[in-house]
Amino acid sequence: MKRADKIVDLGPGAGSEGGQVVFQGNYQALLHSQNSLTSQYLTKPMKHPWMGRKRRSCKKNTAWLKIEGISSNNLHDLTVEIPLGRLVVICGVSGSGKSTLLRDGIFMAVKEAIGKSHRSSIKGCWKRLSGAEAISSVCFVDQMPIGKNSRSTPITYLGLFDSIRDLFSQTPLARQRGYTKSRFSYNSKEGRCPDCLGNGTIQISMPLLPLFYLPCESCEGKRYNPQTLEILYKGKSIAEVLHMTVAEACHFFSSIEKLRKPFSILCEIGLSYLCLGQPTPTLSGGEAQRIKLAKELIAMEQKRIQKMFEWGAQKEPKILYLLEEPTIGLHLADIEKFLHLCQSLVEYGHTVVIIEHHPDVIAEADYVIELGPGAGEEGGKIIGTGTPEALAEIRHSPTAPFLKEIVDYSNQPLKSVKNQKENS
Ligand SMILES: Nc1ncnc2c1ncn2[C@@H]1O[C@H](COP(=O)(O)OP(=O)(O)O)[C@@H](O)[C@H]1O
Ligand SMILES: [Mg+2]
Ligand SMILES: [Zn+2]
Repeated sequence: MKRADKIVDLGPGAGSEGGQVVFQGNYQALLHSQNSLTSQYLTKPMKHPWMGRKRRSCKKNTAWLKIEGISSNNLHDLTVEIPLGRLVVICGVSGSGKSTLLRDGIFMAVKEAIGKSHRSSIKGCWKRLSGAEAISSVCFVDQMPIGKNSRSTPITYLGLFDSIRDLFSQTPLARQRGYTKSRFSYNSKEGRCPDCLGNGTIQISMPLLPLFYLPCESCEGKRYNPQTLEILYKGKSIAEVLHMTVAEACHFFSSIEKLRKPFSILCEIGLSYLCLGQPTPTLSGGEAQRIKLAKELIAMEQKRIQKMFEWGAQKEPKILYLLEEPTIGLHLADIEKFLHLCQSLVEYGHTVVIIEHHPDVIAEADYVIELGPGAGEEGGKIIGTGTPEALAEIRHSPTAPFLKEIVDYSNQPLKSVKNQKENS
């Protein structure tokens, strides 16, 4: 960004709260812009650990997960140790073996150890494992797209559409007409637009041209027939709800306990701008990953609520979360929210292991593992472990120079940060 001839900053917020150019000009001018959220984060970067937290020590009272003899792709007989109940980041140049370590090493080994999978059914790439008894389940959140079905949307995937359709079926007019919950699904014959069959679009095929889609003329892309659209919940039709962003829905459904928490979880992980009805195959890899993470978090929240009603269920589950480059596509403001979420998971006693390149995420970790030194057969080794401060001092680490800058800044007393800003 520093070297760009011109920067255009869109905002001020996401989705319906954005869409305006809040700044255009060069980097220096951006630093002095008043309205830009980007500018705020550049002139006053996050300090780590965030919100005045203390880094959790990995020396005292720490249980470790140890996996020995990992061999897969470019990893040869590698041993890795992960402190449990901590925020752990795996970094290293592209091709150094991070994904291989996370998937074939940590995930496969732990999954087998806690009995979710038999060794014979997976390709075993490790020799020994210890410390997994402290983990109740392992959750690997990857960036694979969610399904190919264009009728799947974030809220159907998360199971929230059911509760929304329930609300519509309970309105006085729906009851009077005898419309049940299923009427408000765009898959149902009674409820959907007969011309586009609930797709909202019409597929056009012409000789020599690739298939393309046009908005359906009869429902104007709304997916439903006029009778269904006459039913309003708090003044909105079901089609209007599908066009809401997550942030709008969070507000709109704030009185409905079943929906309030899931929508606020989506906001917390930086998805406030997403439309409820956006087909999931059109989500980016990073968005798909965050939706999957949200699904896990919503399920965990539901279990937590259930537990509160059960007698004698004191044993809290301890989950090992494995995330692959979750911040791809996130603004610094969203990264901050995301880090806050990771930290809360760790506060609950879970372990979060993240593959990341972003210096703000690396600097937030309790423990960092760097793979390298190069890619492919030049990589596959652990070149440094420890706190971000310790890693920043390692001379042969390619990450160290970037990390040092942010670690030094984070450890400065507040006053000198202010002066530095005024001088810049
Ligand atoms: N399925 C595979 N088959 C063969 N080689 C692979 C496979 N997946 C990854 N590799 C190789 O293993 C090395 C490490 O890859 P990867 O773990 O994806 O690195 P990173 O995640 O650090 O970018 C690379 O040289 C890559 O080309
Ligand atoms: Mg990778
Ligand atoms: Zn239609």
